[in-house]
Amino acid sequence: MRVVITGHNGQLGRQLVAAFAEHELLKLDLPCDDITQPDIVDCIADFHPDLVVHGAAYTDVDGCERDPEMAFRVNAVGTQNVALGAQKSGAALLYISTNEVFDGTQRDAYREWDRPSPMSVYARSKAAGEQIVCNLTGGRFYIARIAWLFGPGGVNFVTKILDAATKNGALRVAADEFGNPTYAPDLAQAIAALAATGHYGIYHLTNAGFCSRYEFAAEIVRLAGLTAPVTPILSAEWLRPSRPPLHAILANTAGASLGITMRPWREALAAYVAWLADERPTGQGDKVTG
Ligand SMILES: NC(=O)c1ccc[n+]([C@@H]2O[C@H](COP(=O)([O-])OP(=O)(O)OC[C@H]3O[C@@H](n4cnc5c(N)ncnc54)[C@H](OP(=O)(O)O)[C@@H]3O)[C@@H](O)[C@H]2O)c1
Repeated sequence: MRVVITGHNGQLGRQLVAAFAEHELLKLDLPCDDITQPDIVDCIADFHPDLVVHGAAYTDVDGCERDPEMAFRVNAVGTQNVALGAQKSGAALLYISTNEVFDGTQRDAYREWDRPSPMSVYARSKAAGEQIVCNLTGGRFYIARIAWLFGPGGVNFVTKILDAATKNGALRVAADEFGNPTYAPDLAQAIAALAATGHYGIYHLTNAGFCSRYEFAAEIVRLAGLTAPVTPILSAEWLRPSRPPLHAILANTAGASLGITMRPWREALAAYVAWLADERPTGQGDKVTG
């Protein structure tokens, strides 16, 4: 298969490159390839791909709040350009979206067919991308909503908690924000499996289970063998430009029906913390993501 991967330098993107390594790849990312530029349409089409995996995005959620123009330019217009490239070459498109398209007010976990209700600028720009993908691909699309990503090569919740626990010795973490921690290598394998099915549609792909940010942090500290006390707080006590949805938990119903599931998040987190202990570059090669 000929596969385009956008955002290949990102936290998920580098795992996607590994998961699709057996295929012929065209990898697009800044600074050389900017999805906001119209010429990206022909760049994709000229490669004659069978599949376009679109992970590139402006992922700094607080940055999106400060600069909505940029958020919509990258996450909506950029997605439109990528979708037009897929359309022009007759390729299927797999768009990476987010649990944040839901407002988090529903008590139950969100299923794939629940109606999006995005709140933040980031979430609205990603939801706009979903609509564009639905409209431009003639039904040949997968939307994979994911959540709380962590993995090698990223600055993420896990690395931030480890750094803070080491430097400050004590942590205050929101106990009223819930989600599904998701390990990028597991997710990339699940995405590759989904893309091989031809079962187009909307999917919720995360590691199994969910937790609060507080439980997530406490488990990170425990697995790392640190002694820093973790104190539960309300998310409202942690002021930031964007407000995340408090209960945007994803339920994997569609993927599970195809046999596409991921291991429990605690197992995946243990694997990542062990990897960090052995392999983490000393401040080099990490990328900051939102
Ligand atoms: N991280 C999470 O917890 C999370 C949760 C739910 C959904 N998602 C979604 O999952 C996907 C991957 O997330 P991630 O955490 O791996 O993000 P990431 O590490 O920020 O990677 C995104 C990549 O896209 C690139 N990019 C940004 N603007 C671009 C442009 N105009 N043209 C081409 N490339 C551009 C970035 O380059 P620069 O770094 O140079 O800007 C980066 O390499 C995104 O679609 C995101 O919305 C992430």
